[in-house]
Amino acid sequence: MNSPIPVDESLDNTIAVLCEGYRFIQNRCQRFQSDIFRTRLLGQKVICMSGEEAAKVFYDNERFQRKGAAPKRVQKTLFGENGVQTMDGAAHKHRKLLFMSLMTPERLKVLSDLTREQWQASIGRWERKEKIVLFDEVQEILCRVACQWAGVPLLESEVKQRANDFGTMVDAFGAIGPRYWSGKSARQRAEKWIREIIDQIRSFKLHPPEDTAAYAMAWHQNQYGKLLDTQMAAVELINILRPIVAIATYITFGALALHEHPECREKLLANKDNYIQMFVQEIRRFYPFGPFLGARVRHDFTWKQCHFKKGTLVLLDMYGINHDPRLWEKPNEFRPERFSNWEGSLFDFVPQGGGDYYKGHRCAGEWVTVEVMKTSFDFLIKHIEYEVPDQDLRFSMVRMPTLPKSRFVMDKIRRRS
Ligand code: HEM
Repeated sequence: MNSPIPVDESLDNTIAVLCEGYRFIQNRCQRFQSDIFRTRLLGQKVICMSGEEAAKVFYDNERFQRKGAAPKRVQKTLFGENGVQTMDGAAHKHRKLLFMSLMTPERLKVLSDLTREQWQASIGRWERKEKIVLFDEVQEILCRVACQWAGVPLLESEVKQRANDFGTMVDAFGAIGPRYWSGKSARQRAEKWIREIIDQIRSFKLHPPEDTAAYAMAWHQNQYGKLLDTQMAAVELINILRPIVAIATYITFGALALHEHPECREKLLANKDNYIQMFVQEIRRFYPFGPFLGARVRHDFTWKQCHFKKGTLVLLDMYGINHDPRLWEKPNEFRPERFSNWEGSLFDFVPQGGGDYYKGHRCAGEWVTVEVMKTSFDFLIKHIEYEVPDQDLRFSMVRMPTLPKSRFVMDKIRRRS
């Protein structure tokens, strides 16, 4: 039986996604007054859903699987082919444990120390420059941090290229045409480089410490006791490196927030009631990064009178849930204090996915992201003085991923005494 849920009758909405970007699902949910609707994208039937209840359903492993959900073009740029993001069941659980084993409090502390050191090392260089573009600089900082933390050797002469390649892979996720092609080449270059690293570790020419990602990926055994093939180990090691570099997006939005809400600066300095935690959470909620997530229906089921047929692609509206007025008071205002007594669930604040880390696909690097952001903002507030010259700080809600147009230019940089 077909459901009474709204159907967007357009022949195919792929162009609408490209034209409406982050608000594609939200716009239709508002128009249809419904948390769920059917449409067609890239020639296939798709169900789109928003809201906390929808997120709970989306993360039910009995109902959804990831196999076959991520388009090949996203795997050839952002994820890498056949990595953890596309796995299900026992194999996914086993692989996910590998990622989560790297996220211990001790390792997060090391990461935070490395991040602080790299910021510190950059000031001297910046003081001698007329101006810097923060996003580009932070990508390089974080590329150094990511490689050092993960046990991957990185020559000073290759920092720019590697940082740029990781950034380009992320920049390609919502792209067609040249941006997609650049992302694909960047991934091919990075995979070749990291395959060589894995080979060197396995032939004992390189000895990363045992608690690093490079060691873990090179020697990880699947649930049947077999090493990953070199390509797979490289893809998973890049699944640690690339997203650390991607935190540059949130740091750039954070700098924008500090510029547009100068009162946050004082509050960060005082850090009453752990204000920095609230600030970081609000950056991740308020500013757009990931738009929606995809999964395929595993078995036929019915929810909210809608029949979900096995194999159907379902999209969950991450951006919309983070701006849902039923969950967030005045969602389109930047207000870190909303997190002061926040008692969130696993499904209402989903900038990096929802649900349980170990059972589902929620981002393995959420703690890493929060840690790196906190250390970076603390540094930006306490150790650097700078000015923000005239520039175009607007960001598109259509281009995915988005960023302030100028990528945040800073000048007159000085070490704070
Ligand atoms: C998965 C976002 C940083 C590693 C994800 C997912 C999202 C996401 C939306 C998918 C959730 C799902 O499919 O349900 C982000 C954002 C980041 C970030 C916005 C900030 C820049 C990181 C970092 C790491 C990381 C720093 C590692 C150090 C992963 C891995 C997965 C993942 C391995 C796959 C998990 C799985 O499929 O089980 N991330 N992430 N991410 N993220 Fe992140």
